[in-house]
Amino acid sequence: YDTDGNIFYDLGYDGLYSDDVSRILSRLEEENQDVWAYAHTYRNRDILILGRRIYEQYSQSRVIGYTLISIDEKIFSKTVTLWKSGAPQLLIMYGKVAIIMKIYKAKDYDELSRKAASIIASQVLMKPDCVLGLATGSTPIGTYKQLIEWYNKGDLDFSSVKSVNLDEYRGLTRDNDQSYYYFMYNNLFKHININMDCTNVPDGTQSDSDKECSRYEDVIKSLGGIDLQLLGLGHNGHIGFNEPDEEFAKTTHCVDLTQSTIEANKRFFASIDEVPKQAYTMGIGTIMKAKKILLVVSGSDKAQILHDVLCGPVTPHVPASVLQLHNDVIVVADEAAMAKF
Ligand code: F6R
Repeated sequence: YDTDGNIFYDLGYDGLYSDDVSRILSRLEEENQDVWAYAHTYRNRDILILGRRIYEQYSQSRVIGYTLISIDEKIFSKTVTLWKSGAPQLLIMYGKVAIIMKIYKAKDYDELSRKAASIIASQVLMKPDCVLGLATGSTPIGTYKQLIEWYNKGDLDFSSVKSVNLDEYRGLTRDNDQSYYYFMYNNLFKHININMDCTNVPDGTQSDSDKECSRYEDVIKSLGGIDLQLLGLGHNGHIGFNEPDEEFAKTTHCVDLTQSTIEANKRFFASIDEVPKQAYTMGIGTIMKAKKILLVVSGSDKAQILHDVLCGPVTPHVPASVLQLHNDVIVVADEAAMAKF
């Protein structure tokens, strides 16, 4: 229900433009112009569809926001902002979104790492030939260490696992110690029995970016999609190299690094000229297609952004906020990062 107790709704990521929905809407309009929202079961989900009247009322404004409580009346309220005017003619509500996002608060970084590793381990145990989407950065290092430890104890077998990484600097070779390939090899791959032929990182040495990006999308498709995507969170809400923008990028693409990122990275290179200026990254659409998403967040410096991501408006200005619209997200954050909750 909204704050006045009138309506309730939630947003579906893929928008459902299907005939089914148009049929439901026209019936809704024929039957009762005054209905504001209509509950329906679609693909086994409870959804609500806004009637034309409410759509018209709000479609004038580019940005709209509401406080929501889920269909199941589980305690849940947040503000959702639509970032597109006009585009979907309907706002479709998935009542289950609210109860599917699981948020684990870990005592500290070690507990966070164990928890995240146990989620990845259970994915591998349940589907030994699964496709893992992997991330670099400092946050997942403890998670990878824990997985290595369990592998060494004989509890995990990665021999059939396939992997795809989120991103890679453009222009760096695999053996460059700043490349994400190098990071993955040294922090995980070389310590476990994953078949290196089944690991995938965008090829930073490919100068034809369109070709490399579509190749990478094809790789993910040919593997049957990502079963579990691990994500870290940037201070500005970025995931992969998807920086704040006016719109969500759909597929794997080449990004220009911001001057501040280049500056921040220069300490790792002999000179600023050697710092890569571009990177290849999965798009938000690529990430959102993963069946399950695991977001790991650590440290008080991420507390505000984590709150914005989970409770703020869904907007490309905070790229990770789009995760509110994914139907199977697990967030594992330590107490410091959860300080605003
Ligand atoms: C890494 C990546 C980045 C990081 C993010 C957080 O592959 O895609 O989005 O996840 O910058 O980095 P850390 O964990 O170092 O804070």
